[in-house]
Amino acid sequence: MRTQKPMTQQTTSTSPLNIEQIRADFPILDQEVHPGKRLVFLDSAASSQKPRQVIDAMTYYLEHDHANVHRGIHTLSERATAAYEDARDKIRAFINARSRREILYTRNATESLNLVVASWGRANLGPGDVVVLSEMEHHSNLVPWHMLRDEIGFTIRYIPVTDDGLLDLDTYARFLREEPVKLVSVMHVSNVLGTVNPVADMIRQAHDAGALVMLDGAQSVPHLKVDVQALDVDFLAFSGHKMAGPTGIGILYGKRALLEAMPPYMGGGEMIKRVTLDGSTWNDLPHKFEAGTPAIAEAVGLGAAVDYLTGLGMDNILAHEQIVADYALDRLSEVPGLTLYGPAPDQRNGVATFTLADMHAHDVTQLLDVEGVGVRAGHHCAMPLHQRLGVAATARASFYVYNTTEDVDALIHAIEQARTVFGL
Ligand SMILES: Cc1ncc(COP(=O)(O)O)c(C=O)c1O
Repeated sequence: MRTQKPMTQQTTSTSPLNIEQIRADFPILDQEVHPGKRLVFLDSAASSQKPRQVIDAMTYYLEHDHANVHRGIHTLSERATAAYEDARDKIRAFINARSRREILYTRNATESLNLVVASWGRANLGPGDVVVLSEMEHHSNLVPWHMLRDEIGFTIRYIPVTDDGLLDLDTYARFLREEPVKLVSVMHVSNVLGTVNPVADMIRQAHDAGALVMLDGAQSVPHLKVDVQALDVDFLAFSGHKMAGPTGIGILYGKRALLEAMPPYMGGGEMIKRVTLDGSTWNDLPHKFEAGTPAIAEAVGLGAAVDYLTGLGMDNILAHEQIVADYALDRLSEVPGLTLYGPAPDQRNGVATFTLADMHAHDVTQLLDVEGVGVRAGHHCAMPLHQRLGVAATARASFYVYNTTEDVDALIHAIEQARTVFGL
C-alpha cells in the first residue's frame, strides 16, 4: 500500500488556472501563523477555506434578505425563499440531477449518509439482506450501518483494500454474485489514500445484480466533475464546507422514485402536508426531508461556492490539484525515513498521507505547525483502514485549488526541520 515514486515532476507553470488570482480570493490565506511563518494550509480534506465571493454572498443575504423561508408572504420571506431555492437549483445543475426535488439539504455528508441508513435502510433491510461497504470507509459510512444492523439484523460485507491501496474488485464481484446484496455504499475518493474508486463500473455491476448504490462524495464532489445521471448513482452524499462553502450545510442527492418511497427522517415543521391530533401526512419532495428551519445563509453560501467552482471549471481544478499532488508525492518520496500510503499517482487525487520513521504523527504535525504548515494527524475517521495499514495514526497533507508547488516545498522544508529535531 506504499506509494511508488512517480515518473515525472511537474510544476504549477503548467496549471490551467491563475493561482495567484485565486489565492487573492481567499483572505484567510494571507497571514502569518507564527512570526515570519506564512500560513501554508494543507488541510482542505478536513475543511476547505472560503473565497470572498462566498463570504460576501452570505453577508449580503444576512444584511438584506434574511427571514424564515417558505412560510411568509412578506417581502423578506419571499427573498429569503428565492435565495434558498436558487441555491438548490445551482446544486442540481452542478451534479446534473434531473430535478430540484432530488436535492435535499442536510447539515453535512454525515447527516446525508445517516438519512439514507435510517430512512431507506429501516424500510428496506432485514435479516437475510446484505449491504456492501468497504474497508476504506470514513466512520460516517460505517457507524450508522453498524447502529441499524445491531437493531434490525442484516449482514454487512466489506470490500477489502489491496496492498496497492485499491478496492479488491474481484471480491466485490463475488459478493454481488453470491450474496443477496440490496445496497452498496462506498466512498468515491478516499480521504486517507486518495484512491479514486472506479465507481462507474462498480455502479453498473451493482445494478446488474439488482443492488442500489450510495456514493460518499465528500472527497470527490469538491474536486472533480460528478454527474449523477452519467454515473446512474442512486444516492450521493457530500458536504458544503469541503467545497469552498460554509459549514452546517450538506447535500443528499437521491433518485426521485426512491426518495418518494422513503419515509421521512425527522418530523416537525415544514415536512408535513397536514397534521391532526391523530396523525400527519408528508409534504412533497424535497421538503419531506427538511424538517424545521433550515440553514438558509449556509445554503446561499453553498450556492455561491458552486458558482465559484463552476467559474473556475471542475476539469481545471482537477488538473491543477493533480499537478500539486504529483509534485508532493514526488518530493515526499525522496525524504529518508518517510512512508507514503496509497496507490500510484494516476489512481489517486488530492491527498498525501505519510508516516515519518517511528515518530508519532501528532508530533510530526506539531513540528510542521511551528513552520506554519497545517496538516492533519490521526486516523482521519478511518480506524479500520488504519488497522489495515498497520499504523495507529498518519499525517495527511491535502490540497485544493489554492495550493501551489511552493506550498509543497514549504512542507518538505518543515519535514526536514522535524527530522533534525528528532535526530533522524
Ligand atoms: C470521505 C469522507 N466521508 C464523509 C466525511 C464526513 O463529512 P462531514 O464531517 O462534513 O459530515 C468526510 C469528512 O472528512 C470524509 O472525508
